[in-house]
Amino acid sequence: MLDVNGTSSTLRLDPRVTLLDALRERLAVTGPKKGCDRGQCGACTVHVDGRPVLACLTLAASVRREVTTVEGVGRGGGLHPVQQAFIDQDAFQCGFCTSGQIMSAIACARDRGIRSDDEIREFMSGNICRCGAYSSITAAVRQAKGGGV
Ligand code: FES
Ligand code: FES
Repeated sequence: MLDVNGTSSTLRLDPRVTLLDALRERLAVTGPKKGCDRGQCGACTVHVDGRPVLACLTLAASVRREVTTVEGVGRGGGLHPVQQAFIDQDAFQCGFCTSGQIMSAIACARDRGIRSDDEIREFMSGNICRCGAYSSITAAVRQAKGGGV
């Protein structure tokens, strides 16, 4: 049983199937991206029980708690404040890394112990952006923190 974005699904899965493949290939939840498939890029980041995890390094069968992907973060039919901040700050180019960046950014924005830009950059350092939108991503997290998430 996988509980994804508020919908429960019963799947028969090989125990070696990753959460990323279960989401993308079995549930057609394609927001999480397969960049490296080895834990190095962050493109596959989702939340499990509200905490960011790398879906490519997580076995689907081990997940017992609510999974949230970028498709599930909006509020009341609108955007999450972090999604809006990414638009306002022009924090993406090709967009391939963006769904993972947003999931990490939501966790970063919620963490009240993180205040400075250096701390934001450190928290977000597991999410690689080949387009180099880092300064705008930092600005988007800063905006979201300022507005409350
Ligand atoms: Fe998971 Fe790159 S695809 S970290
Ligand atoms: Fe292109 Fe980040 S926006 S990889």
